Amino acid sequence: MENRNSYVQQHKERFINELVELLKIPSVSADTAFSQDVLDTAEAVKISLEKAGCDFVEICETAGYPIVYGEKIIDPSLPTVLVYGHYDVQPADPVELWTSPPFEPVIKPTAIHPDGAIFARGACDDKGQMYMHVKAFEYMIQSNTLPCNVKFMIEGEEEVGSVNLKTFVENNTEKLKNDVILISDTGMISNQQPSITTGLRGLSYVEVEVTGPNRDLHSGLYGGAVANPINILSKMIASLHDENNHITIPGFYDNVEELSLEERAEMGKAPFSLENYKKALDINDVYGEKGYTTNERNSIRPTLDVNGIWGGYTGEGAKTVIASKAYAKISMRLVPNQDWEVITDLFTKHFISIAPAGVSVVVKPHHGGQGYVTPIDSIGYQAANKAYTETFGVPAIPVRSGGSIPIVALFEKELKSKTILMGFGLDSDAIHSPNEHFGIFNYLKGIETIPLFYKYFVELSK
Ligand code: BES
Ligand code: MN
Ligand code: MN
Repeated sequence: MENRNSYVQQHKERFINELVELLKIPSVSADTAFSQDVLDTAEAVKISLEKAGCDFVEICETAGYPIVYGEKIIDPSLPTVLVYGHYDVQPADPVELWTSPPFEPVIKPTAIHPDGAIFARGACDDKGQMYMHVKAFEYMIQSNTLPCNVKFMIEGEEEVGSVNLKTFVENNTEKLKNDVILISDTGMISNQQPSITTGLRGLSYVEVEVTGPNRDLHSGLYGGAVANPINILSKMIASLHDENNHITIPGFYDNVEELSLEERAEMGKAPFSLENYKKALDINDVYGEKGYTTNERNSIRPTLDVNGIWGGYTGEGAKTVIASKAYAKISMRLVPNQDWEVITDLFTKHFISIAPAGVSVVVKPHHGGQGYVTPIDSIGYQAANKAYTETFGVPAIPVRSGGSIPIVALFEKELKSKTILMGFGLDSDAIHSPNEHFGIFNYLKGIETIPLFYKYFVELSK
């Protein structure tokens, strides 16, 4: 413990500087303008794994962005930990809302992070959290304490659905063989109260297009006489929830797992302040499905949200026009047992069925994935809990998250192993938002806690 802590203290400046360098490369996977930067980031990750002590590192080409694979096999008879992370980041826009440029990292204190936080796109999601693993590995190599084999699989397309990782995993099950998968790409309750993510939601992401007249029309000459695609789309979207904020798509809830009152009561014990939640978001009330608490609404219940909507004239001033087309991007967060392809199908059929005469509707599925739940009696969970308990002084609480890492369910199917989600981010770290940041405390605590996971995982596996 002493040694690990002193290694981190001794090298923390360098650990921070290396992460800062990685954060300077704008690896936005969604936008092809950044494609060279995404490739450069893969190269930087490769070099970092080599320097940290991998015996073998390669850049695996895919039909999209490459996967960086690295390994250190010390003894094939020992357990193997497979670390997964992603080096791609979300787009930074709206850039004008950042207090410092998204790819020029700065460190400054915040109320929650008095020791400072690194502000940059990807600081928490997921470059910072992924890099903790590289540095924890470096520590174990330097201190001669690596107790088992390690494999790293760091991809560049997580934020766009991990489409090519799926094929890579399917084709490389032998190479990726492991005893447990370890991921830091989620969060924890607070810096005083660690938690382990035991569930992720699934996802179905679609884009809809509503077409009315064959061209944009004068809204005086034609208004009121033809279907206005934007009016219609708004109405259709509004009808997808009823007065209780229940989703109205027939069959949508068919496979939703209903938790028992005991399980819900257990969940309700996790520390949570509705007042602080509202204050942090500047809202005077929360909103959601009737009969469920805020924490239930964003973890064990499925949702449907418009992520973007556009059409018509949105430039300066006014233009009197009825648009020919209106569009929206819609995400549905799913819970375990809801199959994302079935849900995509149900959505498509329903959305087309509610379109009135006078418009036509096209639904384009984007991507999706299944949800995930992991038991807390596994060796992996126990090892993670022991690790957190040692570095935070209190045991971790199991928490189901509202976010999605769709590839996790595929890992279980293809590689037949459990994933342990050891997240060190906080909800207030603003991932996907302007001013994303990652606490220095969290970064260093992660580097300190991860080696203990290895230690206890190997001990408990004996
Ligand atoms: N790291 C996040 C997911 C996450 C964050 C899970 C916090 C739990 C807590 C991941 O990078 C992400 O953003 N996933 C996407 C889905 C993906 C298919 C684009 C998401 O959840 O929107
Ligand atoms: Mn992520
Ligand atoms: Mn993300």
